[in-house]
Amino acid sequence: MRLLSGIQPSGNLHLGNYFGMMRPAIELQSRGEAFLFIASYHALTSVSDPAALRRGVRDVALDFLACGLDAERTCFFRQSDVPEVTELAWLLSVITPMGLLERCHSYKDKIAKGIAANHGLFAYPVLMAADILAYQSTLVPVGRDQKQHLEVTRDIAIKFNQQFGEVFTVPEGHIPDAVAVVPGLDGQKMSKSYNNTIELFGTEKETRARVMRIVTDSKPLEASKDPDTCTIFSLYKLFASEAERDALAARYRAGGMGYGEAKKALFEIFWTRFAPFRARRAELEQNPAFVEAVLRRGADRARAEAARTLAAARRAMGLD
Ligand code: ADP
Ligand code: TRP
Repeated sequence: MRLLSGIQPSGNLHLGNYFGMMRPAIELQSRGEAFLFIASYHALTSVSDPAALRRGVRDVALDFLACGLDAERTCFFRQSDVPEVTELAWLLSVITPMGLLERCHSYKDKIAKGIAANHGLFAYPVLMAADILAYQSTLVPVGRDQKQHLEVTRDIAIKFNQQFGEVFTVPEGHIPDAVAVVPGLDGQKMSKSYNNTIELFGTEKETRARVMRIVTDSKPLEASKDPDTCTIFSLYKLFASEAERDALAARYRAGGMGYGEAKKALFEIFWTRFAPFRARRAELEQNPAFVEAVLRRGADRARAEAARTLAAARRAMGLD
């Protein structure tokens, strides 16, 4: 099994990214060969400030290494250190029907939000397909919102293989069910575009303030409360053991506990569970040469792999 996933370096990572994508990707590294990259080319569709892009790439690298990515087991690299994927994206683009891309929700949502439509934004799923296919990935762990992009990738791979011969492995998506969508402060999907996130590595003060802003219903302290419809509880559950979860659920139902107290419990469990990650991140921050060396080593390996696939695709299409 070969796993691959990517994450955009555009904005600070939050709990939705962690439970939806980072943790599953990190857990899966023990189950097969894993590739994980920082999607710096994709980020150009939304980040136009070079300094912000550099910072974003550095932060994602630190975040992943701090949260347990093992660079000995996982090939960890920057997408833009493997320019072969952009050539592969071109080869794929000539067999990708317009309609397939026009149907993509992610593109339509971005346009609806007023982001200017450009070719990169439209072709985004083709570059993503190239990422996945270049490494002959079999399993791609992503959050639910990327499911359609995976289907596009599969469609492109199947079409290419039918037309030019078997060059690509057709990948499967892996969407962790238990944490399909992590809710944000307002109860909608947690997303940096909704400004409803709790960042993984915010300061204590910021983090506490964000947790305190979680929207709840207005039941009084004494009332019995329903944990299953409460955002605070949904987030608490992600960190808690079964026993801790049942204990808090029982307190919700019994009444006598206000939402303020539940928020404190959530803050405490998050802050405690992440303490080792924060310490590791602080250490890594002092050692940029180590981080750079990890990414370079990853890129060398990834490039060798991508070059092999690209050569096969070129040959199949008659470019040899
Ligand atoms: P954002 O919505 O903040 O822009 P991205 O779209 O960059 O986040 O997502 C990066 C990864 O994290 C993707 O695999 C995505 O599916 C996952 N992810 C993001 N937000 C959530 C969420 N609220 N719940 C579960 N997974 C999420
Ligand atoms: N589009 C993905 C996201 O926004 C990032 C990404 C780019 C990716 N290429 C990929 C994810 C390949 C998985 C596989 O989250």
